[in-house]
Amino acid sequence: MTTTAARKLTPNSVRTELFIGGAWQPAAQTFDVVDPSDGGLLAQVSAADADDVDRAVTAARRALNGTWGSMSGADRGVLLNRLADLIERDGDFLARLEALDIGKPIGQPTVLDIPNAIATFRHFAGWADKIQGAAIPTAGHMGRPTHSYTVREPIGVIAAIIPWNTPLMIAGWKLAPALAAGNTLVVKPAEDAPLSVLHLVKLIDEAGFPPGVVNIVPGLGKVAGAALVRHRDVDKVSFTGSPEVGRDIQQAAAESFKRVTLELGGKSPQIVLPDADVDAAVQGIAMGLFFNQGEVCAAGTRILVHRSVYDRVVAALGDATRAQVPGEPFDPATTIGPLVNRRQQERVLAYIERGKAEGARLVAGGGRVDRAGFFVEPTVFADVTNDSTIAREEIFGPVGAVIPFDDVDEAIRIANDTEYGLAATIWTRDVTLAHTLAHKVQAGAVWVNGWAALNPALPWGGVKSSGIGRELGWSGILANTEEKTVTVVL
Ligand code: NAI
Ligand code: MG
Repeated sequence: MTTTAARKLTPNSVRTELFIGGAWQPAAQTFDVVDPSDGGLLAQVSAADADDVDRAVTAARRALNGTWGSMSGADRGVLLNRLADLIERDGDFLARLEALDIGKPIGQPTVLDIPNAIATFRHFAGWADKIQGAAIPTAGHMGRPTHSYTVREPIGVIAAIIPWNTPLMIAGWKLAPALAAGNTLVVKPAEDAPLSVLHLVKLIDEAGFPPGVVNIVPGLGKVAGAALVRHRDVDKVSFTGSPEVGRDIQQAAAESFKRVTLELGGKSPQIVLPDADVDAAVQGIAMGLFFNQGEVCAAGTRILVHRSVYDRVVAALGDATRAQVPGEPFDPATTIGPLVNRRQQERVLAYIERGKAEGARLVAGGGRVDRAGFFVEPTVFADVTNDSTIAREEIFGPVGAVIPFDDVDEAIRIANDTEYGLAATIWTRDVTLAHTLAHKVQAGAVWVNGWAALNPALPWGGVKSSGIGRELGWSGILANTEEKTVTVVL
């Protein structure tokens, strides 16, 4: 499908208003959603202000105190499974929305974002009736025996702030565990890519969740986002995005001691050991650099290669980079789309210039693609030093930095010499080395012989500046509940 044809689908099929207390309602203002493939206008979406945010939080609080608050976990699980079925029903449409809004090649949301969102809602549907406490033996109280136990209760009203790079998938990571645990939500999608999350909310309504359980306030980060994270009646903020905004959220949260989960990106290493399957490693490295245009929090952007295979890896990665096909997201030949907006394009191009200026060797790419839209060439630098800007700062675009190392200790030292710690990939056939390095590398997730093996059962989050807290799996349930201790003095 061409962009034009896909665009025609959008205004008729996606609600672009606020959804508060079970009703779609326009805001006083709108913001423009831009097509990254050609800079054209895709949709005009309601822009929530502080009053709208306040109404959404009030609706979420009311829902918590209403039928939702007394619904059994089993019934919440039924609703979550129904929602997963509806996402599956509309999977092609949702994949097209992601391709249109972000510019990603259509095959990618088809194989990752949509199936992952479906699997996430199903996974947490399964948890909804299994959120157990424990009976804890004690020595009694003032000479009398006691019976003590814990229960896990919902935290309350949760603000979910969604990034633009994989919006549907990350909305699933935030909504599914929160709903399984019985919370209510106010969702703020990113102004750069709100469409799939708006459609998700329509499906939540269709699935039969009571009014007010999930509300959506699209709008600008500085207006709707800022009002939401400062609202006194929000109990938790779950955020994925930049460290700058994450820091602001944690400071704002301190006012009323809101709980926070922050996922703030990374500068993740891919370590190629001497015994690695070089072909598989290069394939995985290229994927870790160019999937989703490199606009991925877990992108494997620091490629640490043992000197014994260094020239081979650099040459093969150069070939794999030149083999990428930038293009229109609905063209099946395309392997890499435009960046999400002009600001991101300029930011990434500035990093590329910085890499050249700081003396790294340009292996492939290195500029903009000569066509309309916010395209940047897939780019690889070699002979990068770990103290250079392109090795230290998150670029969030298709740019890789290859760094040589001489021994495993040096690899670990370089891997950990970063303010980030989200993910790491290790390429080796040596099982002992694989586990040894997996323990030594500072990261929330380590993958051996494959990049970004994500699963809703597996905890997700970072160490150091990559964030605070974990999403997904049982950790996702813990992060969306408060533990209460009950003691009966018998
Ligand atoms: P951002 O952090 O500004 O945006 C993420 C979300 O936060 C959006 O929904 C936005 O509306 C909201 N937001 C912005 N300002 C806010 C505020 N003051 N209070 C509450 N919410 C607010 O990220 P941006 O500007 O779009 O991208 C800049 C850089 O951030 C990227 O180049 C990348 O390095 C990083 N980033 C990382 C992501 C990740 O997956 N960890 C996702 C998106 C961006
Ligand atoms: Mg921003």
